[in-house]
Amino acid sequence: MSSVTVVGSQWGDEGKGKIVDFLSAEADVIVRFQGGHNAGHTLVVGDTTYKLHLLPSGIVRPGKQSIIGNGVVVDPWALLNEIKTLEGQGISVTPDNLLIAENATLILPVHPELDQAFEAARGKDKIGTTCRGIGPAYGDKIGRRGLRVCDLQDLDNLPAKIDKLLFYHNALRKGLDADAVDRDDLIAKITEIAPKITPFIGCAWRLLNQAAKDKKRILFEGAQGIMLDIDHGTFPYVTSSNIVAAQAATGSGLGAQHLGMTLGITKAYTTRVGEGPFPTELFDEEGETLGRRGHEFGTTTGRKRRCGWFDAAQVRQAVQTGGITDLVITKLDVLDTFAKLKICTGYKIEGQTFDYLPANAALQSKLEPIYETIDGWNSKTEGCRTWDDLPAKAQAYLKRLSDLVECPIAVVSTSPEREDTIRIKDIF
Ligand code: GDP
Ligand code: IMO
Ligand code: MG
Repeated sequence: MSSVTVVGSQWGDEGKGKIVDFLSAEADVIVRFQGGHNAGHTLVVGDTTYKLHLLPSGIVRPGKQSIIGNGVVVDPWALLNEIKTLEGQGISVTPDNLLIAENATLILPVHPELDQAFEAARGKDKIGTTCRGIGPAYGDKIGRRGLRVCDLQDLDNLPAKIDKLLFYHNALRKGLDADAVDRDDLIAKITEIAPKITPFIGCAWRLLNQAAKDKKRILFEGAQGIMLDIDHGTFPYVTSSNIVAAQAATGSGLGAQHLGMTLGITKAYTTRVGEGPFPTELFDEEGETLGRRGHEFGTTTGRKRRCGWFDAAQVRQAVQTGGITDLVITKLDVLDTFAKLKICTGYKIEGQTFDYLPANAALQSKLEPIYETIDGWNSKTEGCRTWDDLPAKAQAYLKRLSDLVECPIAVVSTSPEREDTIRIKDIF
């Protein structure tokens, strides 16, 4: 198999960017297949830090083909800003190294506006979205009124499409006491940006199926994490796309028979940003220590991430629903100062026990974790590059995680730096 899929196995921010950057040295094509600029993927290469939101992480390596697949929701203004920022860092993004699928959905200014209005209307029940317009844009896609990237190549028919879209949006806005959308202004904005995007537009599914025939190595870069999946996550506190590995096929147009290994990127502890259940969340000094040592602040919104112990029941579930074949454990070094570590093996609630997260949100919010305690190693793993460099107790922690989650470990990451990575198994 010549394709590898990277997905987050928790609630996002597991270190997918670092791992995709590390693996992209061996890949020919790097593909985003879901989500949008709600994602924030950090790459540290020497003295330079790149923060990517919509662009695949392979974009920083010369000679690689990057693709934004049809499953992504594309905000063209955010994309151009990101390209500009990267160009300021010496990375060139041109139609030679970036292709945007013609059938990807567009995020228009009406979408973040609606995202913010809904969050405000939900009050204390808010989801804690990134307010980037992700949910409303996917809603318009499923509702068959959304605009797509190929509509930027067909400006003659734009006014009619905008009228259909605004028929729906203006009715909603009326209910939310918001002003109607200025139709002509929206058409003018889209008309102005269209020629800047059109050179990148192409037929991603054809390019990918040809690449598979030519035995090229294709690396799929997931965003978010499986617990934020619209079907398999902690609904309604989720994002609006599928995150599981099967989405790599649906969200790119590469036939599913070409999907190979799936790496589940997994923090050695757990974090979450935004609202929603989080059984192993810590509200004490140990949680603060995880946040401080792990620099747990959102890459996209700057929000403080909630921190807690590793949840093996949750990751085991993500392995099964997500199609994960191998784990990549990241941020092991963040645990270097702990004398004892806790691992959640299941949950209890009112005398009942669960070895998985039941779907009911009310139940999820009441689950109490069942923990086992394991010795910490209290020494430095930061920067380790081989398995043998790791202290025996760190090796024991990793083996225990792998046993409980019922999945082998392929890679371990020990710092933000590209090369501080332990390879246990060949990937491509
Ligand atoms: P992503 O959304 O999954 O790509 O993850 P983010 O980039 O949002 O957050 C992960 C953060 O952890 C980034 O700041 C990375 O530079 C950093 N990181 C990744 N791997 C490691 C690691 O092994 N150790 C440490 N200390 N930091 C890491
Ligand atoms: P990466 O790719 C962490 C969360 C938001 C919110 C929920 C819904 O960097 O791992 P949305 O704006 O998608 O409608 O918000 O999902 N969320 C993320 N959390 N990492 C991300 O991406 C996220 N993308 C969305 O905080 O709880
Ligand atoms: Mg992130």
